[in-house]
Amino acid sequence: MQKIQDSTAIVHQNTQDYLHWFRHSAPYINAHRNKTFVVMFDGEAIQHENFQYIIHDIALLHSLGIRLVLVYGARPQINAQLQIQHLQTPFHDVRRITTREALPCVMQAVGAARMQIEALLSMGLANSPMFGARIDVVSGNLVTAKPYGIRDGIDFQLTGEVRSVDVDAMTRLLERHNIVLLGPVGYSTTGEVFNLLAEEVATKTAIALKAEKLIFLGNQNGVFNSQGQLQREIVPHQLDQYITQYQQAQSQMALYLQGAKDAALNGVQRVHVLPYAHDGALIQELFTRDGIGTMVTDAHYEEVRMANIQDVGGLINLLRPLEEQGILVYRSRERLETEINQFAVIERDGTILACAALYPIPTTANEIASAEIACVAVHPSYRKSNRGSQILHFLEEKARTLNIHQLFVLTTRTAHWFLEHGFSHATVDDLPNARQALYNYQRNSLVFKKII
Ligand code: ARG
Repeated sequence: MQKIQDSTAIVHQNTQDYLHWFRHSAPYINAHRNKTFVVMFDGEAIQHENFQYIIHDIALLHSLGIRLVLVYGARPQINAQLQIQHLQTPFHDVRRITTREALPCVMQAVGAARMQIEALLSMGLANSPMFGARIDVVSGNLVTAKPYGIRDGIDFQLTGEVRSVDVDAMTRLLERHNIVLLGPVGYSTTGEVFNLLAEEVATKTAIALKAEKLIFLGNQNGVFNSQGQLQREIVPHQLDQYITQYQQAQSQMALYLQGAKDAALNGVQRVHVLPYAHDGALIQELFTRDGIGTMVTDAHYEEVRMANIQDVGGLINLLRPLEEQGILVYRSRERLETEINQFAVIERDGTILACAALYPIPTTANEIASAEIACVAVHPSYRKSNRGSQILHFLEEKARTLNIHQLFVLTTRTAHWFLEHGFSHATVDDLPNARQALYNYQRNSLVFKKII
């Protein structure tokens, strides 16, 4: 009996998790529909055991109406071919110098990689969640190349750079629900094959197509700062510093970040760097608010600011559960609408994560200019973060600009939190007269104050 109860509880918990997850993902499912994403993975990713699951996830994205351009690299595959032929090609920085005799190896490796990906996408997806779905994958002469030329006195021979991508053709293919597949090669107007950097093909394509996202699947979890901490979001102007850091480490990440910079400067709103080895990374990044890897974006992804009338709905979602538990006093929609200018919020990608209000208290001539901080609330999934402190600091700053020197807070449950934030015990008598008159003796809140 005991056992049955336990497993029911687990099933119930899983259902709850699932519901919670699905409700939070739904806005992203709608947001991503019909948008164009360019996804690049390098040759190592193709060889990794997780690659089959990446292909499943790609199939899933496709079925949700996302327009996909896949770009693959083939560096280890090319190296393997060269080794078979006992050939070597020098690298200059990150670029291979493709000699005429090495070109067949490049063609062989790139062609084979393409077939491998096409085959995986054609599997009938029998063992995948997408069983029965049919995917049309198209590649072709979509990227025009030109020679990289002679630089620093070095002739790069058949190494090229992207000259243009055929936007019209790709758009047509995407509109017809094809997945476009591009490799690290392009053809020149003189009919030659050039070896290209996959990162560059992906970036140029994302820019030309005005893609919503450029996604790099690399061998690291994302971008790390010099202290080794994963950065969940970075803004384009921080990129230079990371590019130097990764260049010094001779990491391929430098190429992704160079691409990210280029893309961000040219209108691609979000660039993501994700681990290819992590099962489900694409799904987690795209359908959750916090993602899993690093996102480069210029837009205010998260900000602390004063609230406006559009925030009322989000505030209600945040406050109602806390009001129901008696932690906060009930505020009607009308009241929130009238008081909205007193509120500060933290917004993250369209969701209100935290709020707090600052109500100036009318004071008489011999009282210190004071205000009450009220309605401090943080979204349950973000309680462990420091969003509460952030919003409190924001309102303290705001109070200073209003020449307010004394803050009060009345609370029944969260005394310790305010004590940790520099408030000290006070009594009802310490409140300015105007606020004393409104004190609710039944609620019996504790009074705290802070001089700022
Ligand atoms: N799911 C959202 C998107 O696809 C947000 C991802 C946030 N990722 C991050 N690393 N902060 O745009």
